[in-house]
Amino acid sequence: MEACKLSVVKLGGAALTFKSRRETIDWGNLRLAASQLSQYRGGGGLLVVVHGGGSFGHKTVVDILKSKGSLDPGDSSVIQESMLRLALEVVKVLKDAGLKPTLHPPHSICWGGSVGSCSLTVIERDLKLGLTPVTYGDSIPEEGGSAIISGDDLAADIAVKLKADCLVFAIRAPGVLDSEGRVMPLVFSLNQVKVFESRGFDVTGGIRRKVESALRASEFVGNVRIVGLESLLEALLGGDVGTRVKRI
Ligand SMILES: Nc1ncnc2c1ncn2[C@@H]1O[C@H](COP(=O)(O)OP(=O)(O)O)[C@@H](O)[C@H]1O
Ligand SMILES: [Mg+2]
Repeated sequence: MEACKLSVVKLGGAALTFKSRRETIDWGNLRLAASQLSQYRGGGGLLVVVHGGGSFGHKTVVDILKSKGSLDPGDSSVIQESMLRLALEVVKVLKDAGLKPTLHPPHSICWGGSVGSCSLTVIERDLKLGLTPVTYGDSIPEEGGSAIISGDDLAADIAVKLKADCLVFAIRAPGVLDSEGRVMPLVFSLNQVKVFESRGFDVTGGIRRKVESALRASEFVGNVRIVGLESLLEALLGGDVGTRVKRI
């Protein structure tokens, strides 16, 4: 495939953090992601970055659910704070790698828990200015609770609305794996995906929800992939790496 011109890259929270350790960043993986994104951007490609929550957002939500069973509107406050801490580190590492990231927290651009309620105008503005807009999975207070916006859904929605030619989900595994642990070159239906036991936790549906978001976006975005974080640049250069997702 051709190299990507306008890409939305979702950096998986489980790839950027150690999911079993509270608020612990995997600096090696974060820097590896940043250097690849910087090389891609250096080649002229445009970029929006969305990252996940890993042991920041997900762990915070799980802890609250364990202690009182459900989220109320006020819980958004502590979840937002946790996600902001991660986002600031992500933005710093992207900046150190030579990008010009601008951070747009979903709780400031989305009205509710559905990604359709997010206004992308500031993201589009920054793209036009040659910057790298960054957003992430977040918590939005709503009547009677706190909604969780999935970074996967958000990335897919941004890619469709901005008419990106590429949507790449970078994860810790080398792609979507079959029951023997081999990378599946193509996924065209959710029925193909077998979830194997993972030690982490994921309040937004893990690999299945990711494939679902990817499948939906693939009806509009030409190149949709789920790849190992180390193969991110190769995917952005049009390489046939990881798992291509294409609804047929
Ligand atoms: N069949 C599968 N293929 C790939 N990954 C899987 C599969 N089943 C479970 N997983 C786990 O799902 C993870 C990706 O989902 P998730 O934990 O939500 O990642 P992220 O937080 O990075 O978005 C993989 O890193 C892997 O640990
Ligand atoms: Mg996830």
